[in-house]
Amino acid sequence: MSKTDELLPKPGPRFRVRFVKEQLEVEVPAGITILQASRLAGAPEGDRCGGVCACSTCHVYVVKGFDSTSEIEDEEFDILDKAIDVRMTSRLGCQAKIHGDVEIEISDESFSAFCDEHPDKRAQATALRTGKS
Ligand code: FES
Repeated sequence: MSKTDELLPKPGPRFRVRFVKEQLEVEVPAGITILQASRLAGAPEGDRCGGVCACSTCHVYVVKGFDSTSEIEDEEFDILDKAIDVRMTSRLGCQAKIHGDVEIEISDESFSAFCDEHPDKRAQATALRTGKS
């Protein structure tokens, strides 16, 4: 199964993922990651290592529905240690799988990484995040 196949509609429950700063929302099938949801929603979340739990640039805060995400594994804890402004609600977007409705705040660190990775999308992402177009 390719990465794209994982994002295709599947039977079963779907959950609402809201990116609060960008005011973007998307419905996703159970089990996809917050990072995959951000891509579907068009939300500016960084992913410098490509989603293999090696960089912390996908750092987000689960501001609502933390219990609707997968358990944190030791490997994720180790990488979160390298992140900036870690909180009780911190997760790595590439590791946290969604099993219910959630609201997500993309960290400033992750937003900056996204802008560095996609300079062509910086202005649009900044406008989304600040509510100014
Ligand atoms: S994208 Fe690098 S740790 Fe998640």
